[in-house]
Amino acid sequence: MRFKGNSDQSSARYWDDLAELYQKETRISTDDFHYGPLLPGDSSLRLLPNTGKSFQCLEIGCGAGQNSIFLAKQGAHCIATDISEEQLAHGRKLADAEKVEVDFRRVSMDAMGDLGAFDLIHSTYALPFSANPQKVIADAAAILKPGGTFLLTTGHPLYAGEWLDIGDGEDGLFLPDYFRPAPDVRMSLDDKTMSAAQTWPISTLAEWIHAAGLVVERLLEPAPMPIPDMSEEEIIAKVPYDSADWRALYPQLARIPVVVIFKCRRV
Ligand SMILES: C[S@@+](CC[C@H](N)C(=O)[O-])C[C@H]1O[C@@H](n2cnc3c(N)ncnc32)[C@H](O)[C@@H]1O
Repeated sequence: MRFKGNSDQSSARYWDDLAELYQKETRISTDDFHYGPLLPGDSSLRLLPNTGKSFQCLEIGCGAGQNSIFLAKQGAHCIATDISEEQLAHGRKLADAEKVEVDFRRVSMDAMGDLGAFDLIHSTYALPFSANPQKVIADAAAILKPGGTFLLTTGHPLYAGEWLDIGDGEDGLFLPDYFRPAPDVRMSLDDKTMSAAQTWPISTLAEWIHAAGLVVERLLEPAPMPIPDMSEEEIIAKVPYDSADWRALYPQLARIPVVVIFKCRRV
C-alpha cells in the first residue's frame, strides 16, 4: 500500500483502532502532568505555570486527556481535543471516574478554528501526527492570551534514528539524515490504515515557534527516570507515563532523548 501521509480521516481511523490497547497497556497518571514515556512528570520538571481557579487550558491531541484531568483537578477550566472519538470516549469515562469536568471535543489540530482564548495550551506527542505542524503552532499562538504559555512536547529528531548492533556488545544510533528525519510509519491493528509520526530538526521547530510570535523560555531534552534502580512503588509514584514496551526500550531512552519540550510564552 502506498502511504500518502496522514489525513484527518486516516488518523481518526488509526487512533480509533488503537485507543483501547493504548489506554490498556499504558499507565498514564492523572496525579501528575506527563511529558512522555518513563520521563519525569511536572512534579519534577516544574514547567507548568501556576494554574488554579478560572485558568483556561486547551489540550491538543489529548488522547484520554490525562493531563487535562490533572489540570482540572487543580481547578483549571479545560478543553481537551483529539481527532479520535474512541480516545475521547476513554477521556470522558476517566474524567467521570475522577469526578472532574473536562470539555472533550473532537477537533483536528490541523483545523482548530477559534476555540476561545487560553492561559495555557499544552500538547504531548500529538504534533508528530499533524499534516501541517507549522500551522498548528501558529494557530495555537493565535488563541493564546498575551502572557499565556504554550507547552509543546513533540518527538525528538534523534529518536528517528535506527538502533544498530555493531558487534562486540556495542550498539548505537544510526541517523541517516538529521535534516530530513524519516517518518515512523505504522500499520493499524486491523491492517487497514497507515499512520506516520514525523519529527523535525530542533531548529525548525524553534523557527516555527518564533514565526508564530512566541518566545521560548525553556527547552528540555529530558532523560528517563532511573527505572532499573526504582521499586515498583516508586515507579508508580514518580513516573506518570509507563508501559512494558517502553520499559524494554529503557537502554535506548537512557541515551537518546525521545521528546523535546518547548515552554513558550506569548509576549
Ligand atoms: C501518541 S497519542 C498521545 C495522546 C496524549 N497526548 C497522551 O500523551 O497520551 C497521539 C494522539 O494524537 C491524536 N491525533 C492524531 N492526529 C490528530 C489530529 N489531526 N488532530 C487531533 N488529534 C490527533 C491521536 O488520536 C492520539 O490520541
